[in-house]
Amino acid sequence: MSMKDWTIENWYAEPWKMFNVEGKVTVVTGAASGLGRAIALGFGALGAKVVLADSNTDGAEETAAEITSSNMVVKCDVRELGDIQSLVKQTLHAFQRVDVSFNIPGINVRKPALELAYEEWDQVIDINLNGVFRCAKEIGKVMVDQKSGSMINMASVFAEIVMPRQVAYASTKGAVRQMTRVLAAEWAPHVRVNAIGPCYMETPLVKQVMENKEWFENTRNQNMLKRFGKPEEVVGPSIFLASEASRLMTGFMLLLDGGWHCLGGWVQ
Ligand SMILES: NC(=O)c1ccc[n+]([C@@H]2O[C@H](COP(=O)([O-])OP(=O)(O)OC[C@H]3O[C@@H](n4cnc5c(N)ncnc54)[C@H](O)[C@@H]3O)[C@@H](O)[C@H]2O)c1
Repeated sequence: MSMKDWTIENWYAEPWKMFNVEGKVTVVTGAASGLGRAIALGFGALGAKVVLADSNTDGAEETAAEITSSNMVVKCDVRELGDIQSLVKQTLHAFQRVDVSFNIPGINVRKPALELAYEEWDQVIDINLNGVFRCAKEIGKVMVDQKSGSMINMASVFAEIVMPRQVAYASTKGAVRQMTRVLAAEWAPHVRVNAIGPCYMETPLVKQVMENKEWFENTRNQNMLKRFGKPEEVVGPSIFLASEASRLMTGFMLLLDGGWHCLGGWVQ
């Protein structure tokens, strides 16, 4: 390589195109609400072809109504393998490929371990962990076959730090983080797999915490920025991980946590 090769004209992408997601077929599960909704709207605004999948189709339709780029709503319950296989089939029929996949749905049951029913444990595991694996495997098959793709799994800062009353949730998020790393190793070099690990974000998922003043204040003050994130704040990191800008990154969990992890975790 001569010094002359190392000029901006020879870069793999011109700097102003590095974050481009225009025309990318982007599947978002959990697009009816919260972070999935924000990602679908953000990618739609940038001209991506967005597939909005959710068990709540009315909510997904509401999100889709705000998107002007090419898009499609698909009913998909991530607990049902058949639904995910149908999502893949419908996506390929409409757009012939999958460039980006956000595997997002998650629930929480906030109880001390000794009070958590086994059924509640199973419900959280089935959506947050098994659901992500089902999506990852079915969509990953397509990406591996086409020899390209960027997959992003929704983890949480609780993959790294702990807090009481999060035993099922934190277990799933730690597992999603490790799943992301293994899939990245298996599907390299053509398919990248990364995760995002947000702190508390203002979505319906954390309504219970936001409605309790003491709980909210204590939680908000755990991170350096002393606030919950806003759903749209997940969009920038999502574009980064989906696009050429991050093409040397795989198996990574990007923390979106206002410095919470850096501060050392939860303080009573
Ligand atoms: N909000 C936060 O503070 C926060 C923080 C860290 C991580 N996360 C993670 O982000 C993801 C999204 O959370 P959110 O805050 O946007 O929640 P949300 O409740 O606002 O949205 C979740 C979406 O997932 C859908 N969904 C639920 N079960 C489903 C299923 N079985 N099949 C298909 N869709 C289903 C819901 O209909 C909804 O549209 C979750 O994995 C969550 O754990 C959220």
